[in-house]
Amino acid sequence: MQAQERDGKQAIDLYRDELRRTIQNVHNLIFKYKRGEDGSFIFTLSEGKLARDFGLTTESIGQKKLQEILLTCNEEKILPLYERAYAGQIVEYEASIGDRIFTTTLAPITDSGDVVEVVGSLTEITERKQMERELKETEELYRSLVEDTLVGVYIAYVNEPGFVYVNPYMADMFGYTQEELMKLGMDEVILPVETADETTNSHKDTSHSMRYPFRGLRKDGSTVELEVLQKTTVYKGLPAVIGILLDVTERKQAEEMLRKSEMLSIIGQLAAGVAHEIRNPLTSLKGFLHLLQSRYEDKPKYYDIMLSELNRIEHIVSEFLVLAKPHNVVFNLHDIRPMLEQIILLAETHAIMHDVQIVTKYDADLPPVRCEENQLKQVFLNLLKNAIEAMPDGGEVHVEVEREDNVVVVRFRDHGCGIPEDRLPKLGEPFFTTKEKGTGLGLMVSYKIINSLGGKITVKSKEREGSTFEVRLPVV
Ligand SMILES: Nc1ncnc2c1ncn2[C@@H]1O[C@H](COP(=O)(O)OP(=O)(O)OP(=O)(O)O)[C@@H](O)[C@H]1O
Ligand SMILES: [Mg+2]
Repeated sequence: MQAQERDGKQAIDLYRDELRRTIQNVHNLIFKYKRGEDGSFIFTLSEGKLARDFGLTTESIGQKKLQEILLTCNEEKILPLYERAYAGQIVEYEASIGDRIFTTTLAPITDSGDVVEVVGSLTEITERKQMERELKETEELYRSLVEDTLVGVYIAYVNEPGFVYVNPYMADMFGYTQEELMKLGMDEVILPVETADETTNSHKDTSHSMRYPFRGLRKDGSTVELEVLQKTTVYKGLPAVIGILLDVTERKQAEEMLRKSEMLSIIGQLAAGVAHEIRNPLTSLKGFLHLLQSRYEDKPKYYDIMLSELNRIEHIVSEFLVLAKPHNVVFNLHDIRPMLEQIILLAETHAIMHDVQIVTKYDADLPPVRCEENQLKQVFLNLLKNAIEAMPDGGEVHVEVEREDNVVVVRFRDHGCGIPEDRLPKLGEPFFTTKEKGTGLGLMVSYKIINSLGGKITVKSKEREGSTFEVRLPVV
């Protein structure tokens, strides 16, 4: 019997040693506490590698009050958590000690329904937290790279419709929200015509990377010129494509402009050759027409039409001449005022026809400017004519000349139809006109002339309120 008891006791001792060794060798800190007689919590156990690190083993802290050891710094925050565990809940919390971060779990131990002790375990998570933070930072970096970038970015599976991802900029390009566009997929936002050539194999071609232009169809039905740079990839284990979209509308427009101006210079060169040849016969045609008009008076309307058409031809020819021979002009000093007065005299009939009064205002002593007289007159005439034509219901056109330091400003101010903001950049483009009989060359010629004088033309305009064109010429 005694031997049995001894054996039993030995087994229990063995078991206890085993348990202690285990607890002592866990990598975290295992502790227990219970409520003492005065109501405060008392440590009954503190083991594990962390306990040794902190010098908080059972021997050193046994029976000490919790507040004395763990809670010195964070008592108000941590004590309620300890109480909660003692009330029967499992409690988890994170706290830092110095620059190390720990997570703690408190679990109540009950005896016939009452909590008699709480066992806690404290694990260091400093490294994990650090990694999480780094991961988050990288994620943020990539996200802002993709989300805030000024090109369209997308990912799509090769074998599935729609996009997996489109960035906000791309959605904007097509006028959709990101969600809407993701449902649509590339095939639905490319214009069908364009898919015929380079994109026949569709954007989901499985070959490496490629670059091609296409025209995108926006939600509102308008189109954008785009260029896509695409590469095959694997996304979440499935074959996919990732691509970048560039809006090349502006570049296309610039190319178009260049084409137009090249065309214009060719026209100019040709015109140089023919303009003179055309002018002479025109003069005789006009002369004979006047003669006929005075002799056969029964169809006056026909003559008027023929004359106005001849005038138009003459006008176009003379515009061409300006374009064609900007080289052999001689610049001299000229006074602006007499030039303007002559032009206003010329435009007077035009103005009266439109029920427009021309109001002038000149600064007292204006310096002369270096220019070729006829060219500058032509600029003034173009601007004045435009101002008059902008007021079909009549009104006043103000012509003001001022000196601002080393610049002479000639201002043409009308209260006419104005120019819509989106059309402003088009001013000065060859052949841009909104007039039935306009050539769209007036402004382009004027810009060119003023540029060659080292000056500039600025425009302020508001739709239905009027426009102000300012010619700024340097004083030499
Ligand atoms: N003062 C203005 N108010 C409103 N629109 C203007 C004004 N000046 C120019 N524009 C706009 O700019 C366009 C181009 O002007 P531009 O003088 O180059 O050609 P045009 O007047 O149409 O033709 P042309 O000068 O050969 O008779 C005009 O058709 C008009 O739409
Ligand atoms: Mg004009």
